[in-house]
Amino acid sequence: MTPDFTNTNLADIIELKDISTSYDKGQSYIIKDFNLLIEDIPDKGEFIVILGKSGCGKTTILKYIAGLKEPTSGQVLIRGRERDRSVPISVIFQEPSALEHYTVLKNVMLPLLYKGVPEREAADRAMTMIKAVGLDGHEHKYAKFGKLSGGQVQRVVIARSLIANPGIILMDEPNRGLDNETALQIDLLIADLWQKLQSTVILVTHNIDQAIFLGSDIYIMGGKPARIVQHFKVPIGFPRTRETKRSREFLDLGGQIEEYLYQL
Ligand SMILES: Nc1ncnc2c1ncn2[C@@H]1O[C@H](COP(=O)(O)OP(=O)(O)OP(=O)(O)O)[C@@H](O)[C@H]1O
Ligand SMILES: [Mg+2]
Repeated sequence: MTPDFTNTNLADIIELKDISTSYDKGQSYIIKDFNLLIEDIPDKGEFIVILGKSGCGKTTILKYIAGLKEPTSGQVLIRGRERDRSVPISVIFQEPSALEHYTVLKNVMLPLLYKGVPEREAADRAMTMIKAVGLDGHEHKYAKFGKLSGGQVQRVVIARSLIANPGIILMDEPNRGLDNETALQIDLLIADLWQKLQSTVILVTHNIDQAIFLGSDIYIMGGKPARIVQHFKVPIGFPRTRETKRSREFLDLGGQIEEYLYQL
């Protein structure tokens, strides 16, 4: 069964202008002159990937977009306005962060309950989403390790993040620490749900294969201090499948990006 995403959002525009990050009052910078404009494509979301080496500042940038942290200088504009929390933004963090003392079902219902959806309807919609992420039969378990595997906990987080259909979804290496097959299954799940949602997604990762597999556009974050240094369009259509990873386009772009990162 497909979750009901008919109540969709408008497409969003995100603009990061001259963002900088310094932890020593401007003596040195981790991020500087970071500029990124994500344009609005009517009736279609974009899957934007920011690809960069570990420690370059990817999580920091996501926190700025989510409004969880303020840059040293620069502006974050969402739909042309400074962040004012009126645009729902959902974040999937690096470390799975389900609410351990709630069941899977309650975790997934919560965003709807916050929005005022009646309990019964919220439970029904949450069950549809739980089935969509492959957790049917686990809904009454507590959402924690020991009761669920790492991949399953991350599925709970994904279901909870997407159920309220946020206009913007931020993802921070959502399959870090999972084995290859589980990681690929999570990527396939994300690709599939995104196609139905048509939201704007920004994913940050250091993994070239994941970037190409999921993304419509890849921006390379690099340099010292870090900024966006290159843009690659992914010349591969949707939906993405297991076969995508073996296609000529996939392998060619992987080679190009690897070469680019090497000489960076
Ligand atoms: N409070 C702080 N004081 C000084 N440096 C900090 C502080 N917080 C973060 N940093 C530095 O900022 C840089 C960027 O951190 P960030 O977590 O954004 O990187 P990342 O690209 O997400 O890394 P990873 O790929 O490992 O997740 C790192 O080099 C980190 O050491
Ligand atoms: Mg990080």
